[in-house]
Amino acid sequence: MASCKFGGLVQNVPRFCGFRHVALRCASQQAAATRQTKASGVKTGFMDLAGGTPLIRLNRMSEETGCEILAKAEFMNGGGSVKDRPALYLIREAVNSGKLRPGGTIIEGTAGNTGIGLAHMCNSMGYKCVFYMPNIMSQEKIDLLRTLGAEVRPVPVVPWSDPANYNNQAAALAESMDNAYWTHQFDNLANKRSHYETTGPEIWRDTDGTVDAVVLGTGTGGTLAGVSTYLKEQNPDIKAFLVDPPGSMLYNYFKHGKLEPSEGRGIAEGVGQTRITKNLEGAPIDDAIYVADQDIVNTVLRLLNEDGLFVGGSSGMNVFAAYTVAQKMGPGHTIVTALCDGGQRYFNKIFSQAELEERGLYEGVPDEYKRCLH
Ligand SMILES: Cc1ncc(COP(=O)(O)O)c(C=O)c1O
Repeated sequence: MASCKFGGLVQNVPRFCGFRHVALRCASQQAAATRQTKASGVKTGFMDLAGGTPLIRLNRMSEETGCEILAKAEFMNGGGSVKDRPALYLIREAVNSGKLRPGGTIIEGTAGNTGIGLAHMCNSMGYKCVFYMPNIMSQEKIDLLRTLGAEVRPVPVVPWSDPANYNNQAAALAESMDNAYWTHQFDNLANKRSHYETTGPEIWRDTDGTVDAVVLGTGTGGTLAGVSTYLKEQNPDIKAFLVDPPGSMLYNYFKHGKLEPSEGRGIAEGVGQTRITKNLEGAPIDDAIYVADQDIVNTVLRLLNEDGLFVGGSSGMNVFAAYTVAQKMGPGHTIVTALCDGGQRYFNKIFSQAELEERGLYEGVPDEYKRCLH
């Protein structure tokens, strides 16, 4: 164990610290890493694969709008999604607080990506993991989680207040077991902190402070809240836009003050929410944007065809909204959004002709993109 100062607290940190590219490691940790690796470019384990993702210019969309539309390639995290960042912080908090001891079990309610990040980290650190998932999530994510050795329990979708809700079941299981920890990504502020300490600073650094707006969807709200809080501290004029998919309640909440679902079914996974999570509470948000499923699917296919980027539904949603913001703000602005995960996770959903037909979305796909569907 080394002693490391994080967020103003001196904590005991085991052999990992993570995010070394953002220079968060304390001196003693850096010294230990130097001893272990000798070479400065070497990653010392899976933890070091979280964060430090590149910002990619979306060239055609930037040229069409006269803005710089930049997408943070979160699918390039080691576990393949934006959720590796909070996964690291959540597990680190569990270990540092002493609530998770060697050989223990991480338990979480997840749409899949947080679970995937946690499962990789549990493997690399010797912990077990159990995940409750809404049973409407992609089979690809469930299969991947099981391949990573996680126990996956898909459960029916019921409201937050119902004891059978996937999060409440995760909490109850953790309560009933010895040496088990419910990471609770929705209300655990370690989630938001991961983005405040890494994603936000990376965007600020990589745009040389020129960013004018960030445009991000929310599931837990950790990404948007952490990034918008950090960036507005650097420059209060930076605008933060919340992006919301069909069926979610946040658009109506921010526009009309009512937690009511918006129209439509919602093809994008990991985004949308029916309550204000602790992570989202008080986040500085300037406006909300609703994106329809057809725009999500068509933008995913546009990114694939124009930019060579194979990404999932929440990425399509984010980019469509960033394009809309660029048009509204006018030429000369720098708009940053995120590509949250890769397209492989939705092969049988967004990239399936049958699935799109069933959802009434196939006809609306531009003909030139239809060859990408199977
Ligand atoms: C694919 C995807 N996009 C976006 C998000 C939203 O991120 P956040 O939970 O930080 O709001 C998630 C969260 O699970 C996700 O899995």
